[in-house]
Amino acid sequence: MSDIAYLNGEFLPLDQARVSVLDRGFIFGDGVYEVIPVYSRRPFRLPEHLARLRRSLNAIRLANPLADAEWTRLIHDLIARNGGEDQSIYLQVTRGVAKRDHAFPADAKPTVFMMASPLVAPSRELIEKGASAITATDFRWLRCDVKATSLLANCLLRQHALDAGADEVVMFRDGSLTEGSASNVFVVKRGVLLAPPKNQLVLPGITYDVVLELAAAKNVPSEVRKIPEDEVRNADELWLSSSSKEVLAITTLDGRPVGSGRPGAVFKLIHQAFQDFKRKVMRQAA
Ligand code: PDD
Repeated sequence: MSDIAYLNGEFLPLDQARVSVLDRGFIFGDGVYEVIPVYSRRPFRLPEHLARLRRSLNAIRLANPLADAEWTRLIHDLIARNGGEDQSIYLQVTRGVAKRDHAFPADAKPTVFMMASPLVAPSRELIEKGASAITATDFRWLRCDVKATSLLANCLLRQHALDAGADEVVMFRDGSLTEGSASNVFVVKRGVLLAPPKNQLVLPGITYDVVLELAAAKNVPSEVRKIPEDEVRNADELWLSSSSKEVLAITTLDGRPVGSGRPGAVFKLIHQAFQDFKRKVMRQAA
């Protein structure tokens, strides 16, 4: 795969892409982003990712620099120029370059940046064994529904997990489950899939929606509601979902096995449904 990026109207090699140190993305983390998985050179759920981008831009009071048709055209162009079958498209929009001042600049032009990297799906071993997680207090801000580039808290939390030898954190705020540092989290108890509601405390995951749709299609009952910490600790199954990890079982939490300590039956059903669904969508788009 080549390393072609897009920056402010131009395609160029990633290592030649430059932005000013005064970019508000660099100075303040004043920007939003998306990560879009690409399977067989086709972006997965692109309209949904673009809708979430609009929502994030709206929340930070930044006008969308491009129409959806233009985003779509540029993303397809970027995929073609990079050439890999399965890719991960990263895009970000910042409030642009301006003299450092917290107040919004009157006339800055947003910086639009995109890059593509190979999409590395979880290994067979990880799918069959499951991931490990530790719990942590969610100390992020109160607008976790905005996919903002200011991710310092998420980085600290992920590193906290890695330092403990775990793959991800499972976070609680005021005694209820929120999500992971870069993933949504689900619980299965007595065959029922539980998901925290989409509110300002969690990112409205695109994969989260796919998981709930597949559960409905497979007649797995689900409940979207507040999930107290003890329900997470006593879960039969725990999963995470994201654009890069798809759906993955968490089989140890704080060093203790989740349920049987192996990916559960409901996970296997939905994981397989996800693979089938992906293939079907890609065939339809062909
Ligand atoms: N992260 N919650 C958080 C905090 C996330 O950062 C992500 C995704 C998700 C899952 O959302 P989706 O299903 O739309 O990928 C939930 C991306 C992959 C990242 O930051 O790299």
